[in-house]
Amino acid sequence: MNILITGATSGIGKQLAIDYLEGGHTVFCCGRNTAALQELTQQYPATAVSLSFDVSNLAQCATALKNVPALDIVILNAGTCEYVNAEKFDAELFARVMRINLDGTANCLQFLIPKIQSEGTLALMGSSSSYLPLPRAEAYGASKAAIEYLAATLRISLANANVKVSYIAPGFVETPLTDLNDFPMPMRVDVHYASREIRRGLAANKRQIHFPRRFTWILKVIGMLPLRIQQYLIAKTLAY
Ligand SMILES: NC(=O)c1ccc[n+]([C@@H]2O[C@H](COP(=O)([O-])OP(=O)(O)OC[C@H]3O[C@@H](n4cnc5c(N)ncnc54)[C@H](OP(=O)(O)O)[C@@H]3O)[C@@H](O)[C@H]2O)c1
Repeated sequence: MNILITGATSGIGKQLAIDYLEGGHTVFCCGRNTAALQELTQQYPATAVSLSFDVSNLAQCATALKNVPALDIVILNAGTCEYVNAEKFDAELFARVMRINLDGTANCLQFLIPKIQSEGTLALMGSSSSYLPLPRAEAYGASKAAIEYLAATLRISLANANVKVSYIAPGFVETPLTDLNDFPMPMRVDVHYASREIRRGLAANKRQIHFPRRFTWILKVIGMLPLRIQQYLIAKTLAY
């Protein structure tokens, strides 16, 4: 298969790239970190193709993705996280997160949807934070809630083109992104677990791939309660 992964230079995306490469697939590995991309192409010279661009820059996306051939799987995983101090709301921080997580996804969609073959798969990386309102995640959670909506609508809109669309909603995964967190991360899993769950979920054409399920189901159930009760429980649990 031909597979394209954004954010393949680190964390979850890198592990996915390695696992698909180990399976003998051709992987278009995307990111800005050229040294990390070079490592992958040196390790898998016949099947790893590196594409270096910033997802938040539409012109760079256009140039980098122009010659990509037809694809079987596209995983739009590149993303960032910054936490908000609501009392000193920083619009530039909010825009930075949105530019990479949301606009970056849209920029890639413009050039990649036409490349996905019939029966192919498109996966958008969200987060289980989109299931409920979490303090300090005003920017990150909003970007992922928008991606959840985007994935759900694309699943309907692209059905006629025979493109399957999945939304990926991990709990905590051990990566450089979460290594920066200064709070407890219950049930944090490693990138091998995350990659396995994502690859299985995509192969099974799951609408939503969420894991570890004991953790994500708790969030989902809280997210289904009346907002008043959700907010009470979250405020109590997170001591806000
Ligand atoms: N780790 C978790 O617990 C967790 C949980 C839920 C969801 N997620 C989501 O999973 C995805 C991957 O996160 P991770 O934990 O693996 O983080 P990570 O190790 O920090 O990896 C982030 C990846 O995104 C790429 N990226 C960031 N900004 C970019 C930009 N402007 N242009 C192009 N690529 C960019 C980075 O590549 P370059 O630096 O090379 O550009 C890197 O490969 C993110 O969307 C994140 O929100 C993670």
